[in-house]
Amino acid sequence: MTRHFLADDDLTPAEQRAVLELALAFRADRQVRTPLAGPRAVAVIFDKPTLRTQVSFTTGIAELGGYPLLVDGKLAQIGVRESVADTARVLGRQVSAIVWRTFAQGRLEEMAATAGVPVVNALTDDYHPCQILADLATVALHRGGVDALAGQTLAFVGDGANNMAHSYLLGGATAGLHVRIGCPAGYAPRADIVERAVAVAAGTGGSVAVVDSLAEAVAGADVVATDTWVSMGREDEAEARETPFVPFRVDAAAMALAKDDAILLHCLPAYRGKEVTADVLDGPQSVVWDEAEFRLHAQKALLTFLLEQG
Ligand code: NVA
Repeated sequence: MTRHFLADDDLTPAEQRAVLELALAFRADRQVRTPLAGPRAVAVIFDKPTLRTQVSFTTGIAELGGYPLLVDGKLAQIGVRESVADTARVLGRQVSAIVWRTFAQGRLEEMAATAGVPVVNALTDDYHPCQILADLATVALHRGGVDALAGQTLAFVGDGANNMAHSYLLGGATAGLHVRIGCPAGYAPRADIVERAVAVAAGTGGSVAVVDSLAEAVAGADVVATDTWVSMGREDEAEARETPFVPFRVDAAAMALAKDDAILLHCLPAYRGKEVTADVLDGPQSVVWDEAEFRLHAQKALLTFLLEQG
């Protein structure tokens, strides 16, 4: 059966664990596996801006022995010139997998329903699951391995309703993390996603909490994470978001509430002086460059896993 990665909980805890172990193996030896040798092509499509995701998928697909076929979403106009389903039929006849960054989750689901090859979510309005795999691998690296993930407390502060918050809830619960989301009123995670995360956490020993203060979220945390206050596609809300989000800025005082050896994650791009201060982002607790590098290793591991299932 063709497997897809549309949201974090598409991987079982055991599967996520295997992918993270493989991500660490790819970090140690970049060509340890070459499942795309041939080369087989993987389509990589962007309907929103990108830097890390484009670089890590194209580099990763090449390192897996494959051919990264970049498709410009503006030229392809998927869903405008032709339907998502017809696009899926055309791509599925020619490429071995499809990686897509787009807006509505439903577009990705329609692609997966028709393509006949693995479809990977490279960020939608709802989820950013590849980033969370990279984040979990980064935490594993800094905590002594994948075994050390379960039981870690991860506090995400900022926009609780964005793709990163939703993916921390689901991916973190899958890994057995205690996930705390600290967000302003009106920016809480979607209730159905919280429910899914609670159900996953019940099976992994993790937990999920949504709170409305930074201090409550960050107190005693092992990992502090944040993200832009204004996600792609929400630019017209930038001014309205400024006031409610200021109390959720990660600064030195916020980091002092977490454990002494807490690490800072940020998916980037970062806006210094907005969601995080420069001294914290560029300081000794920040592991954001390891995190950015792990996009490469984690996505190679994910593609290897998905291709092996098909
Ligand atoms: N929440 C951000 C993540 C960027 C990688 C956005 O969607 O713009």
